[in-house]
Order: sequence, then structure tokens, then C-alpha cells
Amino acid sequence: MSDEKLYPVTEAWKKRAFVDRAQYDEMYKASVEDPDGFWGEHGKRIDWIKPFTRVKNTSYDPHNVSIKWFEDGTLNVCANCVDRHLETRGDKVAIIWEGDDPDDHKHITYRELHAQVCRFANVLKANGVKKGDRVTIYMPMVPEAAYAMLACARIGAVHSVVFGGFSPDSLAGRIQDCDSKFVVTADEGVRGGRTIPLKANTDEALKKCAGGEKVLVVRRTGNDVPWDPSRDLWLHEETEKVSDDCPPEEMNAEDPLFILYTSGSTGKPKGVMHTSGGYLVYTSMTHQYVFDYHEDDIYWCTADVGWVTGHSYIVYGPLANGATTLIFEGVPNYPDASRFWQVVDKHKVNIFYTAPTAIRALMGAGDDYVKKTDRSSLTLLGTVGEPINPEAWEWYYHVVGEERSPIVDTWWQTETGGILISPLPGAIDQKPGSATLPFFGVQPALVDNEGNEIKGEGQGNLVMLDSWPGQMRTVYGDHDRFVQTYFSTYLGTYFTGDGCRRDADGYYWITGRVDDVINVSGHRMGTAEVESALVAHPKVSEAAVVGFPHDLKGQGIYCYVTLMAGEEPDEALTQELRQWVRKEIGPIASPDVIQYAPGLPKTRSGKIMRRILRKIAEDDFSNLGDTSTLADPSVVDNLVSNRQGGR
Ligand code: WT7
Repeated sequence: MSDEKLYPVTEAWKKRAFVDRAQYDEMYKASVEDPDGFWGEHGKRIDWIKPFTRVKNTSYDPHNVSIKWFEDGTLNVCANCVDRHLETRGDKVAIIWEGDDPDDHKHITYRELHAQVCRFANVLKANGVKKGDRVTIYMPMVPEAAYAMLACARIGAVHSVVFGGFSPDSLAGRIQDCDSKFVVTADEGVRGGRTIPLKANTDEALKKCAGGEKVLVVRRTGNDVPWDPSRDLWLHEETEKVSDDCPPEEMNAEDPLFILYTSGSTGKPKGVMHTSGGYLVYTSMTHQYVFDYHEDDIYWCTADVGWVTGHSYIVYGPLANGATTLIFEGVPNYPDASRFWQVVDKHKVNIFYTAPTAIRALMGAGDDYVKKTDRSSLTLLGTVGEPINPEAWEWYYHVVGEERSPIVDTWWQTETGGILISPLPGAIDQKPGSATLPFFGVQPALVDNEGNEIKGEGQGNLVMLDSWPGQMRTVYGDHDRFVQTYFSTYLGTYFTGDGCRRDADGYYWITGRVDDVINVSGHRMGTAEVESALVAHPKVSEAAVVGFPHDLKGQGIYCYVTLMAGEEPDEALTQELRQWVRKEIGPIASPDVIQYAPGLPKTRSGKIMRRILRKIAEDDFSNLGDTSTLADPSVVDNLVSNRQGGR
């Protein structure tokens, strides 16, 4: 398309990068023509205890969905991320921790990381955690969060990290779903100068759980917290009782590494399950090639470990590559909107990976906050989580990166384990707003709503024609739901849930979700979850939730609420409902707009017509589509005339 800007790869980048365009084309071709050969070779990038002899064994047949990679190999993920670096990189910094307070930071070398993780693993073992057990990790962004994950991997326990911003209810649901008997948390978290009562939230959550759990608590603030001596353990006391020698457990490539809950279009969040070998091969390889990671680079991904980005690109990918990875406890605008760039300067960060929502917020704060910092260490910028609008891309490129650093716009999902579509910085010319081309082995396709493939230029539903090693293996405890959600819509393919356009150069432009999932500041949410939180309120009879375009958050949350007979809406109730949803799910689910509706648009069979609700929320009344199937067309007039202005 002629109106699209093109930023060609610079000469300097062609020289420095692992692959240029010709090499990309060649490797890509090899990867899809001979996956066994390609991944058999690249599978050797990690250390195996018993080398694999089989590479790919996958089926997308809905009667028998089965995904296995390197299935007869054995390894230990933690040993790959820690022990194997001791000989050559023992004194290299593995983790730079930057606290919420700008005066707080520390360096952890690979040798120190090894000792910490071994002790942590021994604490888990001493308290009864065994191979295959699920451990819930509800932590702030402190090094102990990474120690906990790696300690689980070391002993073969399966971790389930729950984002520290989730409510006690959300935490309880996730503990129950995977029947986890061990929770790792902190007394409190610290973010933007405020404390978050993680231990108190955990206590609250456990009241709803089966009982018999143990809670291991990291001392972060040292403030008083409620304590149950029959259940609660201080990490600093427990580590004193154990040795720092803990041999890594030999695990099969297909043994589970972690569960991570994510939202879908229906029902409760589902436990996305990732396994060991393929996941580590894929995350380490994408981390190397997409970020063009070289040995001495300082690498910073600003995500939280509670999301998959934190798993794959703060912890596992970078550490498997022996990188220095920065863990940041704070937020982009504390003490002020210069913080990211001050941290870049302080630690001489080379590779910086963040989310469009943060870029837009900082862009809104003004260029001065950026320009008063140096940023000369930066060589590469990245984004993830939602489509980046070209204005934000340009600002990131010109103002933050001073036109030196390519931007890798990385498209992927919790389910994909690692990056599937992204430019490689030395190979692919960039277009602002496009995630560009697939990574090695990744075969995207577009299909129309009937499942017919759209070739060449066009727009449709984004599917993947074949598997890659980092793909999720199942929904924990519910393989049928896995098959139903991803493999039953467009037969023979993995359905991503995203819409997408392909341009004349074959570049992919993600247009956003096509299901009932919304993306609020890069956080994924099922509209059904917000609806069930709302209807749990005693004054609410019915609720329908949709996304609408929001300047900063990408999408905002628009709620249509019908009250119980006799209840009257007012501002106080609106505030109350907002608080209610925050309490039920967490602050990230806070409704932006609540519109009271005497009735919702329904078909005669009682199905809510969300298409109409979306149009009204988007302030686009021109095309409400066919309303003739509505049971009561007058409800639409009421909704239109009472539309609430969002942003
Ligand atoms: C959804 C997945 C993968 C880490 C963070 C989110 C959207 C993600 C991009 C991008 C356009 C993107 C998609 C996807 N998304 N990255 N670069 N461009 N959209 O993981 O919570 O599983 O959400 O985020 O809609 O399906 P997640």
C-alpha cells in the first residue's frame, strides 16, 4: 500500500545482526519445508541430558489434537538457565534488579543465582513439594519471583504464576483450578510508592480454598502482616535450614513446566499449559534472533512475570541464553515519566521491550521527559501486547530511539509461548504498525468466516497451519476445551482469535480480537468475566460488556447494566459497581463506562446482540446492521439516546 511508510534495515544493522534478508528467506524456507531437519538442528541449542531422537510429532486433527516436540529427550530447564552458564559466565550478572525506589537496585550473578535457586528449591522440597505438584506464585517484581519459578523447574514442580494485581477471588479460582497446595507470596508488594497487600490477599483467597495449603512468604517491606504459624513460612527462615546443593531433576521434554491462566471468550480463565523442551528451545531462539541478542547486551523487558511475556522474555528465554536480564519493580511514571529512560541510562540498557499502552502514556506526558535523558546505550526497541498505532510507533522510533534503533513489533499470545510474527532487526524492513513476517517454522494463514483460505493480499481470521515448538499443549485439566477453543473453528488449523490483514508485500497487520476477548492496556480480558462479576452484585439483574476504542488503553471496558426491579441508578451506584468489579477481578478490570439500560437488545431466542452493543459503545450508529431479528427494537433507541461518553 502506498500510504504505508517503510523504514529499511540500515547498513549498520545488516552487518551486526545474526541474519540478513537473504539468510532469513533461506532459513524460513528450510524451517517450513523440513521442520524435522530445522528444529532437530536448532533443538541442540539447549543442553539435553538424554538427547532427543524424535523431533516433531503433532496433530491438529480435532479428533486427536496432540502436540509433542523432542518427545524422547530429557533435560532440566533450570539447569539450562543457570547451571550451564556457571563455567563460562559464573561472575556475569544474570539479573539486574531495579526497585520501585530509584535508589534501590542490586546485581545477581549467575553463581549467586545458582545458590539462591538451589536453596529455594530445597525449601520447596523440605516442605513437601514434589515433582508434578502445582505451586502458585503470587509475587511482586522481586528477584525471588524468578528464583521461585526456576526452583520449581529444578525439582519438576509446575508453577502457576498469578499476576500480583489480581484480587483474592481471582487468586482463589486459580489455586483451586489446578489444585495447588503451595503458594509463594510476599508480605507486600511495592509499586509507584504504594504497597500492595499480597499476603493479606493470599489469606483471603485461601479462605475459599480446600485447606491444607502452605504459604511461603518473602519479606519485601517488613511491615506487619497477619500470620498463621501452622501454615505460613518465612523464606528467610526456611533458607537457613537447607543447603545450597540441589541436583536438578531429569525431566522429559513433554513434562509440564508451567500453567498460566488466561482469559477466553467464554467461561473462567483457562490454564494454558506449557511443557519443557520445545518451550525452552523456542523462547531462547526467538529471544536471540528477534532481539538480536549478543553476549554483552543488557536486556530489559518491562512486563510483569505474572504474564507470559515475563515468563518467556524476562526469565526463560534470556536466562537460557546466558543474558543479563533486568527486573523492574516499579511503574513507568514513578517518580515521574522519565523513569524508564533513567533506568536505561543507569544500567546502560541496550535492548528495551515494552507495551504500546506504556508508549502512548509516556508520549502523552511530553517529549521533555525523554529528551532530558541520554539513552545512547539503546540499540533495539520492542513492543508487544496489542497493535501499536503508527503515531506511537513513530514517536517511539524518532523521539525515544533517535532513529538509531529498529523496532520489533512482536505478535504472539500466552498460548504460543513465544513470538510468532515479528521483524528480525537486521533482515526485515519495518512498516509502522505491522508485525511484519513470521518467525522460522511459523505458518500463518488468513481464512474467511467459512474457513476458506484467503491467499495474497486480504483480510480475515488469523490461523496457523502447523505447530511450532513453543505452542501450548493443553488446557490444564480440560483437553476438550483446548480442542474446542483452538482447533474446532477452522479445521486443521490453530485459531488465534485475532483478525489480520496481509498486504502486497506479505506483511501481517493484526487488527485485534475477533472474539469476545478485549485487550485493555495490553491485558487480556474476557467480557464474560466482567459480566459475571457485575451480575454477582445484588442490585444487578443483567449485564453485557464490550470493548471500545480508548486513546491510552487501546480498548476500554464498556458495561451495559440492567438493574433489579425497583433499583434506581445514580452516581453512587456507578462508583460502587466499579469498586465491585475491581474487588472481584482486580484493578485492571475496572469499568471505564457504565450505562444503565432498561433492556438489552436480544433476539427472540434471548441471545444478546453484542454487535449492536459494540457499535453503540464505539459511537458508530450509522451501521447498526440488521435489527429486524430483535425481540424489542425499541431498546436500541433507548441505548443510543443514553450512550455514555467514553474516551
Ligand atoms: C493477544 C494475546 C504475548 C504477550 C502479551 C499478550 C494481542 C499481542 C500483539 C502485537 C497486535 C498483539 C493479540 C493477541 N497482541 N501482541 N504485537 N500486535 N496485537 O499476551 O495476554 O495472551 O494476549 O494480544 O490480540 O491475541 P496475551
